[in-house]
Amino acid sequence: MWQQEIGGVPVRDLAQQFGTPLYVYDEQLILQRIQDLAQFEVVRYAQKACSNIAILRLVQQQGVVVDAVSAGELLRAQAAGFVLGPHDPANKLAKDGSAADPHHQVVYTADIFDSEALDLVAKYGVHCNLGSPDMINQLGERCPGARVTLRINPGFGHGHSQKTNTGGAQSKHGIWHEQVPDCLQRAARFGIKVSGLHMHIGSGTDMEHLSQVCGALEKVATQVGPSLTTISAGGGLPTPYRSDDTRINLDDYFQLWDATRRRLQDQFGHPLLLEVEPGRYLVAESGYLITEIRTIKEMGSNRFYLVDAGFNNLARPILYGAYHPMAIATQEGKAGPANVPTQPVVVGGPLCESGDIFTQTEGGFVQHRDLPVAKVGDWLVIQCAGAYGHAMSSNYNSKPLAAEVLIHQGKPCLIRSRQDLRQIFADEQIPATLLN
Ligand code: LLP
Repeated sequence: MWQQEIGGVPVRDLAQQFGTPLYVYDEQLILQRIQDLAQFEVVRYAQKACSNIAILRLVQQQGVVVDAVSAGELLRAQAAGFVLGPHDPANKLAKDGSAADPHHQVVYTADIFDSEALDLVAKYGVHCNLGSPDMINQLGERCPGARVTLRINPGFGHGHSQKTNTGGAQSKHGIWHEQVPDCLQRAARFGIKVSGLHMHIGSGTDMEHLSQVCGALEKVATQVGPSLTTISAGGGLPTPYRSDDTRINLDDYFQLWDATRRRLQDQFGHPLLLEVEPGRYLVAESGYLITEIRTIKEMGSNRFYLVDAGFNNLARPILYGAYHPMAIATQEGKAGPANVPTQPVVVGGPLCESGDIFTQTEGGFVQHRDLPVAKVGDWLVIQCAGAYGHAMSSNYNSKPLAAEVLIHQGKPCLIRSRQDLRQIFADEQIPATLLN
């Protein structure tokens, strides 16, 4: 109901010092979530969830490696201090003549190569996780003899929304499981060695579906054979968004994968690295979007709290009907009583589009949320917003991207300045003939 502090720092101070809308990440929560996954030898953070270079640096310091899905994400990872590949000047291991880091600090995972990404991959020798058969030829022509991972679509998938289900015949992701023999032949033509196998069936899925992936991967691994040195369980670990959501049992999850890995090790006669590739699990709960209530108004029987953040800042509700918990921080800086009067409200943003509502279900159906009676100038804190929050924001309605703050060692540190309004159109230009 109330949230007066984030990571020990008053919301009022954060809002007054940095302005709103403002994303704030509590470092301690990210560190805890990384710790939860300690059993996995390789935790590969799917940086698309929240790719600020300070967050990347933070996870790197904990021994976490990253996944990159674009040229931009490759360069972000490098800017944060990750080594892109064996030809990266920062890669001292490779310079010593010893084997390149088997953990591949950065893996490029995608279903296509665009020209920027392929150029970077070739320049730095980035390890690739190939999601389409054509990528094998495209990489083979530029980098014959490379080692690659194949991302396999096992023929089934599951997600919190149909839009985040990445398996099955309706999904564009991965190499169809029946095409593995053809892909191995393609690889052989270019001297490409398949050293990794990866499956990611969707985001916000559940244990039942996640556990089916082990069997599917094992089957394909047997087809690929002992060239494999790494298997990846993909991401998709769910995060509790609602108070009655339970946390996934990571011990059980690890045991399932470890057993799969051991059976394959016995079959191949050599060790296999086991990777897990979470995005949301590491950062969702750490992130808060602080907004200011700018008007409270009645529309028939509905009461609206309209805040200064919209779906330009957090798109998950309009895209997926996603539920985010919310709380109020008062101007006075004091939490109200536990039995404060609440009222059912609709929470919306400033954008000129009626779908700009944070309390909606998939399909655009407006919902009410019981929130404390608040006043204009109080802050509404949207919780569990660290994953796919800022990372999916836009300049719609010519709104600037929000600032980001990390509560680092107990102190708020600005990790992205609020975008300057003129930057929004700085890359646009008027043809000379229109200027006459
Ligand atoms: N690995 C691969 C290959 C992926 O495509 C993804 C997510 C992940 C890992 C991380 O998934 P996670 O652990 O975060 O569930 N915008 C949506 C989620 C899209 C996820 C896309 N791929 C949302 O806000 O729910």
